[in-house]
Amino acid sequence: MASSEVDWHREMLADLPRVRAMGAALKAALTPGEVVLDIGTGSGLLAMLACAYGASQVYAVERGHILEVARQLARHNGLEGRIQFISGHSTAVELPERVDLVVAELIGDFGLDEGIWSVFADARRRFLKPGGRLLPEGLALHLAPTAEGAEFTNWVGPLWEETGLDFGPLRALASQVSRNLWAAPDQLLAGGGCLLRCDLYQDGPLIPEGMVQAQITRAGLLTGWVGWFEAFAGGQPFLDTRPPNTGSSWSNVFLPIGEPVAVEPGDQMTLSVRLDPRFWSWEFSMPRRGVVRQCSDFYSYPAGIFKPPPQPTR
Ligand SMILES: C[S@@+](CC[C@H](N)C(=O)[O-])C[C@H]1O[C@@H](n2cnc3c(N)ncnc32)[C@H](O)[C@@H]1O
Repeated sequence: MASSEVDWHREMLADLPRVRAMGAALKAALTPGEVVLDIGTGSGLLAMLACAYGASQVYAVERGHILEVARQLARHNGLEGRIQFISGHSTAVELPERVDLVVAELIGDFGLDEGIWSVFADARRRFLKPGGRLLPEGLALHLAPTAEGAEFTNWVGPLWEETGLDFGPLRALASQVSRNLWAAPDQLLAGGGCLLRCDLYQDGPLIPEGMVQAQITRAGLLTGWVGWFEAFAGGQPFLDTRPPNTGSSWSNVFLPIGEPVAVEPGDQMTLSVRLDPRFWSWEFSMPRRGVVRQCSDFYSYPAGIFKPPPQPTR
């Protein structure tokens, strides 16, 4: 096991707001005596909490080597007999029975980027009892224009241009890749808009996409958009990474727009985003100023000059 796998789990366990929120939502969702499936159990946290909250039986599935640590922790906590650990990807394993509740903290920095939508679609079909429940039950993805992240618009330049070669065109591409940062609220130039709301009880599209509109409320140099998520249980958000999200093990995402644009209060803009699991792409436009930018993560090629590979089929 790579030591970074252990450290990643340590970091998530040290994120107390995350642990408390997941624990409280799990406690509220679980009726004592029920059977629970924890997908991506990691250190075994949610599986062990499910036992503490009265689950009669827990199945804990994990594809990583950290599963052995979870097994050890369950033994150490006297819970080994109540948790059945299963090694493998959830879509490739079998369970001996259907469960009342499926829980998973497979929530990426921008909500959907750890594959929860397709993992839950499979779990609903193969593992959940009729009328069974999912935790989380849904996610909402939000974006707001920002003046933050200016360092990313120019950061590759000095490294390479010192050689005497001009890497300008490459710099332009490399400055249009999504990044992770912890955004400051005072750097947002407008309130956030909801890009996408997903109901995990429904099958999602192969490539989730959406559009947000914003009207600038604060003058500044627009560098891109900051994204965050909310996770829902019982109709209410129980996790929310909107800035300030300092100290969280989840960062915010930053979708840059290339060369920064000076904006004034009242400026209208839109951002369309496609969350292709292989690469994200986004198109920014400010029609009144004639600005249109196409950006993507695919080796940093803007979608406009790169022909994407064929779309996956189910
Ligand atoms: C974000 S961690 C959460 C760990 C733990 N549930 C917690 O809350 O601390 C996600 C874990 O899920 C595992 N994982 C992700 N997708 C999986 C899948 N479909 N099947 C099994 N394990 C998965 C990863 O290897 C990782 O250990």
